[in-house]
Amino acid sequence: MNVLEQIGHSGIVPVVVIQDVAQAVPTALALLDGGIRTMEITFRTPCAADAIRAVAREIPEMLVGAGTVLTVDQAVLAQEAGAQFIVSPGYDDHVVAYYISEGIPVIPGCVTPTEIMSALSRGLTILKFFPANIYGGLPAMRSLAGVFRDVRFVPTGGIGAEDIENYLTQPYIFAIGGSWLCTSADIVEGRFDRITELARQASESVPRTDL
Ligand code: 3PG
Repeated sequence: MNVLEQIGHSGIVPVVVIQDVAQAVPTALALLDGGIRTMEITFRTPCAADAIRAVAREIPEMLVGAGTVLTVDQAVLAQEAGAQFIVSPGYDDHVVAYYISEGIPVIPGCVTPTEIMSALSRGLTILKFFPANIYGGLPAMRSLAGVFRDVRFVPTGGIGAEDIENYLTQPYIFAIGGSWLCTSADIVEGRFDRITELARQASESVPRTDL
């Protein structure tokens, strides 16, 4: 499986904020113990690149990507750190073009027809939909998918364990993302058993594994 296929297969992309690089590997191990093999470490903290680098080096079983990539400078940092996929909350053509030229899968955020058409013009069909709870959730994505037949969404924002089955059984949903299975509080306070338990519950709830 290529990287995007692995993300679709796993169905769940934890959105992870690492405040202290020492917490990156234990968080990744806690997710792995719970059966989650994908994680998005966000560029919302100064140690994001180091956290990605640590996980990429020390835990080869984990597919680690960079999230909240807003600029080409961050794009370069994420790539150098070893991010295997990139997620951005919005569509920036410079960022998208950079990753396409580097051959790294990029999932930009697109919630309007115009943004989706920008992504399609670059050949991208797997798109983040953020914040999903604000921009209309499943009904909005269903309407957009009726027009943009090739597009599949990765919604994030306000999604939790209770949404897994309903979202992942829709043909226009590729995967779902969110911070509910490893919250900043659990990471900072070292509650890695709880992260493993939430990851296990989530991975066992994924209704399909054959993408
Ligand atoms: C994201 O970056 O995708 C969101 O911040 C995740 O949203 P959540 O915290 O509501 O899961």
